[in-house]
Amino acid sequence: MTSYTPTRRGLLASAAVVGGAALTPASLWRAAPAAGAFPAILKPTPATQFRDFGTNAEMLWSSVDPTAYLTPQSRLFVRNHSRTPQLDRSTYALKVYGDGLATSRTEGEALTLSFADLQRLPHHELTAVLECTGNGRSYFTTQQGQTVSGTAWTSGAVGTVRWSGVRLRDVLASVGISPDAVSIQATGLDDDFVSGGTNYGRVRRPFSVEKALDDALLAWGMNGEDLLPDHGYPLRLVLPGWVGIASIKWLGSLEVSTTQLTSPWNTTFYRMTGPQWPADSPPLTVNPVRSAWELARDQVLPARPVTLTGRSWSGAGTIAKVSVSLDGGASWRPAVLDRRGREGQGWTQWSVRWGNPRRGRHELLARATDDQGRTQPFEAAFNTQGYFFDAVVRHPVQVA
Ligand code: MTE
Repeated sequence: MTSYTPTRRGLLASAAVVGGAALTPASLWRAAPAAGAFPAILKPTPATQFRDFGTNAEMLWSSVDPTAYLTPQSRLFVRNHSRTPQLDRSTYALKVYGDGLATSRTEGEALTLSFADLQRLPHHELTAVLECTGNGRSYFTTQQGQTVSGTAWTSGAVGTVRWSGVRLRDVLASVGISPDAVSIQATGLDDDFVSGGTNYGRVRRPFSVEKALDDALLAWGMNGEDLLPDHGYPLRLVLPGWVGIASIKWLGSLEVSTTQLTSPWNTTFYRMTGPQWPADSPPLTVNPVRSAWELARDQVLPARPVTLTGRSWSGAGTIAKVSVSLDGGASWRPAVLDRRGREGQGWTQWSVRWGNPRRGRHELLARATDDQGRTQPFEAAFNTQGYFFDAVVRHPVQVA
């Protein structure tokens, strides 16, 4: 596989982010690595393809190839709590322990599975959307006038990829689990997450045994390539349809438990918080329905007939219908659904012909409905951490 060493270009890019961050609301940006420090993201993230948020990088929808269904790994957004670790597949080992194993084991007594052990299990592939819970967060502010914390993503913290690896249920069957197991905590091998003076420890999040036995994958590949370091090399968990945080990268251990496990990533973060939410609101799991146009915001379009393209997706199923408006919501028409994913878990590509774009500023809207009957609302439910912005986005363009 390709090895990524910090280049002078990468270091300069990091330095530029430090400069850029000073000009933007500090609360919306995660601290960028200091100039000269090892970069948080190792793959190239050119400004023509990504918006740089320091430890995170957003895919620019204007750079998406409308003819390609899958998001190339080189173009996929990156969301790092700290920075990408560089791990060695030949020494990698996955630890599995907990009282939910057929034979209870403490962490010190964990079973260890090497990469070669995992590869001996039946191989499996699936296509799925990977999306950050906070995708679209900036629209809480720009569209709803609300203040939220976290990275100010627009619509590009999402991609659809084909994962390859082994089913988690086959791994669990090979080690043996107890019929009383209910919860599994996945922990990453990246640095501890430190924020606001608090060390939250390694990035980790529990999920149900039910999901583990359903469609969870331990993935080593994406779109037929080895995972890049930024996306979890050598092995990551993939929980299809669920919030991105559930798909723990650089998977170091799985604790299988007969009791419900917790971590800051399902108690403090990645649940709805704010005045209108109960103190015990549940951890977020299944992603909502969302849509994006394959355009930049304020993109300039020629004043002649044009076919516009976009994509819609849902954590719960396939997209059944997409309605679009080219006049700020005054009138609506159905988009043509062009291509859906295999196994029903990828996104749906759609298009609409704009016959007579008049010069001036316009707002494009896309509103999708999934096969579970969930339709995008016109206002997203406010929550202080800005999760699940699923409302119809008002996308400005200029016709010149
Ligand atoms: N796993 C670890 N170990 N560390 C992380 O910072 N970020 C999570 C998840 N898994 C994260 C992680 C979040 S919030 C998201 S949205 C996805 O990884 C992003 O995956 P990607 O960077 O491969 O696009």
